[in-house]
Amino acid sequence: MDPRRTIARLRDREHVSPDELAEFIHGIGDGRIGDAQAAAFAMAIVLNGVSHDQRVALTLAMRDSGDVLNWDLPGPVLDKHSTGGVGDSVSLILAPALAACGAYVPMISGRGLGHTGGTLDKLEAIPGVVTEVSEPDFRRIVGDVGCAIVSATGSIAPADKRLYAVRDLTATVESVDLITASILSKKLAAGLDALVLDVKVGSGAFMKSHAEAKTLAQALVSAARGAGCPTQALITDMNQPLAPALGNALEVAGVMEILTRGVPVDGVPDPLLTLVAELGGTALALGGLADNAASGARLILDAVEMGHAAEKFGAMVTALGGPADFVSRWMDRLPSAPVLVDVLADRSGYVGTIDGTGLGHVVIDLGGGRKFDGDAIDPTVGLSAVAALGSRVAVGDRLAVVHAVSETEALEAAQAVVGAFSIVPDRPSVPGRIHERIGA
Ligand code: URA
Repeated sequence: MDPRRTIARLRDREHVSPDELAEFIHGIGDGRIGDAQAAAFAMAIVLNGVSHDQRVALTLAMRDSGDVLNWDLPGPVLDKHSTGGVGDSVSLILAPALAACGAYVPMISGRGLGHTGGTLDKLEAIPGVVTEVSEPDFRRIVGDVGCAIVSATGSIAPADKRLYAVRDLTATVESVDLITASILSKKLAAGLDALVLDVKVGSGAFMKSHAEAKTLAQALVSAARGAGCPTQALITDMNQPLAPALGNALEVAGVMEILTRGVPVDGVPDPLLTLVAELGGTALALGGLADNAASGARLILDAVEMGHAAEKFGAMVTALGGPADFVSRWMDRLPSAPVLVDVLADRSGYVGTIDGTGLGHVVIDLGGGRKFDGDAIDPTVGLSAVAALGSRVAVGDRLAVVHAVSETEALEAAQAVVGAFSIVPDRPSVPGRIHERIGA
């Protein structure tokens, strides 16, 4: 291999075989290729793109740059990946619900990225929980409990880890080809039988337009299938937070309310639970545990309503070092912030738009996310009772509650929250939560 020739061919839009791309990725993984060549390679792909076959080759080579787990379990190995949004605690309900339906879920998750919260940070809001576990412990928990939500070890897709760090510094993150290979390499290294993707679109998502989200969803589904993993994607709405709470412990509290409530409040389906059921039903159907996505969704709802998902969640929390009585005592166990301040509407009308990215930044500014690598996170801070899109408000009605460590920070956050809502005179049309299914 001569990496300079591969880069030149990508630069000049000449043919580069999938094998040649795979060889380049191997070079990134084993350190023969340095940051300069990796950056030039990434920029050539950002500018010129690659074909479907090349995307599959990139995905497989990045997956195979480290450990690829394989399992011998009595049920299908399933997982979900979300492209990230605000108030998105789907994974915390979905993983135990799938496990309660007979699937095994080795969910390698991330920490907060940009304005979005991270599943690992949320889970670690539970005192004692540690999500950095050894591979043998990961395998044991998945086998015993049925699900484990953990962080990636250094041996999962190391070529992606290096290339991602280079992309982050060289304005080469924004490429559907590179994003696809990056996301899938890590997911497929977990040895999945099927995968469901939640591609988010709207003010609180990375993709703001449906067209962008659809392009990414199609690329992800076709590359995952090309790599041998049955996959479907849902394009879902992120023009408002998925749940009325944002922040680590606050989102876990919302999850526990759903897991322990049993039945929908007043028969009104919870939007977060509805999305969990749609994604979970799709995964169960892909994994052969349901006839179709609709019957799979019913199985997921039953698992939640009968408390079986809560039992799995509790067993996972205990296995990760958390309290053995978390499911029954979660209200006492979760930490809470000392200062609560109501954010009030300054005019009457309807909630017309919500700047989800703005709300995500409010939570980070309160200390609920990282601004610098290695920053400590305060699990207690965030927002609760966030008003829904389209809801009617009068002057002085509550738009949200800020949870903060000090009065000053709470008041600053409250001002930013008011700015994130637009109040309009006429009832706006509110987009549905699920926009489109890709790959059905
Ligand atoms: N998330 C990833 O894992 N990789 C990307 O390239 C972008 C988002």
